[in-house]
Amino acid sequence: MRDLKVLRTKHEVQKELLALRGEGKRIGFVPTMGALHQGHFALMQKAHEFADEVVVSIFVNPTQFGPNEDFDTYPRTFEDDLDHCRRENVSLVFAPEVSEMYVKENYIKFSLRSLGDHLCGASRQGHFDGVIQIVNKLFNIIRPDVAVFGQKDIQQFRILDRMVTEFD
Ligand code: PAF
Repeated sequence: MRDLKVLRTKHEVQKELLALRGEGKRIGFVPTMGALHQGHFALMQKAHEFADEVVVSIFVNPTQFGPNEDFDTYPRTFEDDLDHCRRENVSLVFAPEVSEMYVKENYIKFSLRSLGDHLCGASRQGHFDGVIQIVNKLFNIIRPDVAVFGQKDIQQFRILDRMVTEFD
């Protein structure tokens, strides 16, 4: 089992990953909102196939929850999540506070023109705008060589795939 680093700030993560990249390591990334389960473990295992070091983010992202959705009651099982990450040989967990990720007032907003208005998106107005916003930010911070997403949520997967195409 590798030592697991748990970092709370963007700066610490960037510094750590710069060092790993300097050693020629490929970085795999699995973004999560915690409450980790078998599905997440499979994503971590898949990331190991393509990368030398696997980074997991644990962040319950408020901007993808609607006003009547369950942000406050979303399960938070941080210590168990860390144990699972250790077992899956994850090198680094990025677990920021909301204040680390967001300024008080956003002037700029992501807005999906297509792909988000049917299936799950039809009943969750703005949900995928929030998903794109956070995954974009996480990609900017972590700059992974490879990121792994479940296809159980195929709509999210398609939208993020499109985001990567449009935002390079
Ligand atoms: O699928 C999830 O758990 C979330 O939507 C994600 C991709 C971690 C973004 O918050």
